[in-house]
Amino acid sequence: MKAFLLILCSFQCVEGYSIKQKAQLHANLSSGYDRMIRPGLNQTVPTIININFYLTSLEEFAMEKSKMTVMGSFGLEWTDSRLTWNSTAFDGDLNQTSLFVSNIWAPYFILFNPHHEQMPILSGEQSCNVYANGKIFCLPSDRFVVICSNSIDFYPFDTQNCTLRFYVPGYLASDIVFQPLSPTIQMDYFEENGQWFVRDTKNYINRYIFNGIKVEVLQLEVIMQRRSKYYVFSFLLPTIYINFLQIFVFILPADSNERVGFSIGVLLCVVIFLTIILDKLPVSPDVSKFMTKLLWDMVFGSLIVLAVVLTSRIYHKEDAVKLPRFMKKILRIKEENTAVHPKKITKSLDKIFLIAFTTAIVLNISLYFIRCKLAGANLSYFSY
Ligand SMILES: *[C@@H]1O[C@H](CO)[C@@H](O)[C@H](O)[C@H]1NC(C)=O
Ligand SMILES: *[C@@H]1O[C@H](CO)[C@@H](O)[C@H](O)[C@H]1NC(C)=O
Ligand SMILES: *[C@@H]1O[C@H](CO)[C@@H](O)[C@H](O)[C@H]1NC(C)=O
Ligand SMILES: *[C@@H]1O[C@H](CO)[C@@H](O)[C@H](O)[C@H]1NC(C)=O
Ligand SMILES: *[C@@H]1O[C@H](CO)[C@@H](O)[C@H](O)[C@H]1NC(C)=O
Repeated sequence: MKAFLLILCSFQCVEGYSIKQKAQLHANLSSGYDRMIRPGLNQTVPTIININFYLTSLEEFAMEKSKMTVMGSFGLEWTDSRLTWNSTAFDGDLNQTSLFVSNIWAPYFILFNPHHEQMPILSGEQSCNVYANGKIFCLPSDRFVVICSNSIDFYPFDTQNCTLRFYVPGYLASDIVFQPLSPTIQMDYFEENGQWFVRDTKNYINRYIFNGIKVEVLQLEVIMQRRSKYYVFSFLLPTIYINFLQIFVFILPADSNERVGFSIGVLLCVVIFLTIILDKLPVSPDVSKFMTKLLWDMVFGSLIVLAVVLTSRIYHKEDAVKLPRFMKKILRIKEENTAVHPKKITKSLDKIFLIAFTTAIVLNISLYFIRCKLAGANLSYFSY
């Protein structure tokens, strides 16, 4: 029986320790501990803080407020030689305990580019794991809201670049050194966002200089791409479709009284789309290429209305119209007489307008995509 227990023990049992021993350990660790002084026996050597950042979600990216909100956890590690003990001296496996941040020295990390009020990521009531060899591990989670400039140039194929910047006030680059454990943000526990696709992340250190004093700043860069599929289907494709609808007015018979109404109706459609899109965009110094395209759509829509009015006017003339030779050449009218029947002129004009506006609209659409592509927008993300 004893042998059996022994075998069982070698797999499962630990020698264990009592609450008394743990209290003794905490009392020993806190005696003579000054949490105002950073770890390191030799204080000319900076304290190294190992850092990982685990992004859990991208809550929102509010373009109009230049604001990004993310949820995430920091994995922070450093060594404090004052918090070491010999675990066998506490007759067992007491090789790890938890201490409040308010009882030990901990880096007071705060955001450098907050959108609103500041909160330190490590605060009093949080606990950190302390190991017998002096290693300390903290895992604070929080919601971080940062200022982030945006660019709407390629909307809706835009990519945004936001950086969370953290620093520890009161400590210089010669006191504390940040050491990212990975060149990227950890995405293991990330929940996807419906509007944005996180394409790339970076985790690196920058040194800023204030009044000639060097300060370490941890930079967490999030590069996100708008999931453009929704915008392609709800804005881009409908506007292209309306563009082609506009041209069909020249196929409508000239004696139909609906021509002007039809072209104005389609122009209104373009204006409504422009209004909806303007409503969704932040006020920004640059005009997006998509807006430029829509503005040209409006110009062409207005010109089409003018062209329709002009052809109707000619069509309803009673008498034949006298045309100079060069006009006849332009209109491709083969007639000996200088006076041409209005119906013939209208028919010819309709053909010319149809070709001219189709060319203009196709050019406008292609130019939009070409300009986006040339400027480096990623159009291959239609499916995201
Ligand atoms: C803890 O501190 C007490 C009193 O200072 C001392 O007697 C004891 O040896 C210490 N225990 C360890 C394991 O250092
Ligand atoms: C502390 O570290 C510095 C830099 O590594 C070294 O020059 C100095 O001798 C060290 N001092 C002691 C007391 O170990
Ligand atoms: C820890 O304590 C045990 C017994 O008190 C001793 O044998 C051992 O050498 C100590 N270990 C260290 C690293 O001081
Ligand atoms: C602490 O003790 C446990 C149980 O004996 C052991 O499994 C673990 O590896 C030890 N951890 C360290 C950091 O020594
Ligand atoms: C993101 O912006 C930072 C400056 O804020 C810049 O240094 C970095 O190169 C940008 N990254 C990308 C991928 O554009």
